Amino acid sequence: MSDEPGGAVPDRRNTLNDLTGREWTYAIRSVLATRYPTNGPASYAHRLRRAHPSPKPPQLMAELIRFFTRRGGVVLDPFAGVGGTLLGCALEDRRGIGIELSPHYVAVYHQVCQQLQLSPQTLIQGDARDPACYAALEDAPCDLILTDPPYAGMLARPRTGERKKHGQGAATPFTTDPADLGNLGYEAFLPALRDVIRTAVARLRVRGHLVLFVKDLQPDAEHHNLLHADVVAHLMQIAGLRFRGYRIWHDESLNLYPFGYPYAFVAHQVHQFILVFRKEA
Ligand SMILES: C[S@@+](CC[C@H](N)C(=O)[O-])C[C@H]1O[C@@H](n2cnc3c(N)ncnc32)[C@H](O)[C@@H]1O
Repeated sequence: MSDEPGGAVPDRRNTLNDLTGREWTYAIRSVLATRYPTNGPASYAHRLRRAHPSPKPPQLMAELIRFFTRRGGVVLDPFAGVGGTLLGCALEDRRGIGIELSPHYVAVYHQVCQQLQLSPQTLIQGDARDPACYAALEDAPCDLILTDPPYAGMLARPRTGERKKHGQGAATPFTTDPADLGNLGYEAFLPALRDVIRTAVARLRVRGHLVLFVKDLQPDAEHHNLLHADVVAHLMQIAGLRFRGYRIWHDESLNLYPFGYPYAFVAHQVHQFILVFRKEA
């Protein structure tokens, strides 16, 4: 066993994950830039998963799961979609438990597992605000909550300008269900997300982590719309939950568009924030 931070074998004091010092050093870089394939075996059935407007790459989720859990650990995703987190669990020998509102996305996840010849993890179709959805965690809490919530009405807005010109003008809400947090306005979304996360964190072990993806909205005249900052402020209201910092995911596979050209600066966001919290004693 090595106690060196750059060591090549796991340190016996490491109870968080199974990484060596060298792997740990690489895993904490603040920017994670990826370009995952969208076809072929390494796409993990992307053709099926793209029935969802924003499926997360299973390899990306696997990388986070590797850092925040040990082999055999339990991971909860209360906004599971078509199962990016659950597939990441399968890749890393962890147990995944997901909750997803839309029966359609639950069905797509099962098709994906069939195509990849993977045993499905537990995916409950239901509303993540309902405590009954967390019954599988009644006896043993989870080690990690890894999730990618809907973003405050962002996808439900009709697209304009360059994206529309490029054939991407249709509004794409995740679902039309009023229980879908993605259909709430900005101000209503923040406390609703906080309440779901509070319910989930009650099933997280002490010193377990909450890792949450957030993408900012464009600023407007009234508000900066730095959604990640507002989410941090709201989640810090949950007793015992401490903000530990963030990483940035840069998705290098996104197409670029000349937003604002030739009139005004409009940032083309090719990144998302990965916010990290820990449940303290
Ligand atoms: C950003 S997507 C998650 C995508 C996922 N990471 C994947 O790889 O497919 C957010 C998901 O939350 C779901 N959702 C929204 N409100 C919900 C609620 N109240 N309970 C459970 N799921 C909800 C939406 O249907 C959507 O699939």
